[in-house]
Amino acid sequence: MISHANFLPNVEDVAYSFSQAAKNYDQVAGLQRLVADELITKGADLHNGCVLDIGSGTGYVSAKLADVEAVDKVTGLDIAQGMINYAQSCHHSSKLNWQLGDAQQLPLVLPDHANTYNLVISSLAIQWCKNLNAVFAGVAQCLAEDGTFHCATLGPQTLHQLKWAWGQVDDYQHVNEFVPLNVLRKALENHFVQVEIECEPIELKYKSVQQLTKDLKQLGASNHNARAAQGLMGVGRLRKMVQAYESLRDEKGLLPVTYEVYYIKAKNKVE
Ligand SMILES: C[S@@+](CC[C@H](N)C(=O)[O-])C[C@H]1O[C@@H](n2cnc3c(N)ncnc32)[C@H](O)[C@@H]1O
Repeated sequence: MISHANFLPNVEDVAYSFSQAAKNYDQVAGLQRLVADELITKGADLHNGCVLDIGSGTGYVSAKLADVEAVDKVTGLDIAQGMINYAQSCHHSSKLNWQLGDAQQLPLVLPDHANTYNLVISSLAIQWCKNLNAVFAGVAQCLAEDGTFHCATLGPQTLHQLKWAWGQVDDYQHVNEFVPLNVLRKALENHFVQVEIECEPIELKYKSVQQLTKDLKQLGASNHNARAAQGLMGVGRLRKMVQAYESLRDEKGLLPVTYEVYYIKAKNKVE
């Protein structure tokens, strides 16, 4: 298992958190939309046949791909029942179907789907998975012979300002950990060939730290790290963290928030 995994939440907690977030998710998912749109644009030539969308959330990516003529069928898979319900109620294309399940258990969730999908796509979901090897093994197994895995995930520079601001308060881990590029590449190369990873930092600007932490919470992305012990979010600590973050305001009076996005393209390893 990849070492960052110890600090990730359990699937039950991830599922609960995203289920709770489902209703308001689309209103605060600015970053997620930017990344999903970029992933879709980068992979336009891959959109055909049968598609599996891992961590489909409210169904944004699945629905966009179902609109593509060359795509026959899209399965949106998510661990959060609330997300599946929401996606089902929003999108009505006959090409779409929804599957509750864990991306780390694809052979169990999708039995009889070996060598089925021309494309497995995933936008900002696999960073929640403790066992990336299991995700990649499952993806490789269900890809068709010439199939492609196309994925966006986050790198360790993500939310580095928030990490730094908390670092001025204590030594606990308040911000989720993300897998470094070399570790990610190695894990991918165990299961795929022609692995390409593009790294694109995105800097958003916020008016207040409160707005950032509220967005992270509504997105289901607030800190879940196991190391973040109970009671660490006391008012005093929070105030100190906010004070530290305030020192980062730019000349326009806004607070920078970095997301390091990795766009991955990998081909199925034909045995
Ligand atoms: C940040 S959202 C992205 C949703 C969607 N792809 C988008 O771009 O709007 C991440 C999604 O991944 C799902 N997820 C997290 N861990 C998962 C797992 N192990 N298996 C399947 N889905 C998972 C969450 O429930 C959530 O809906």
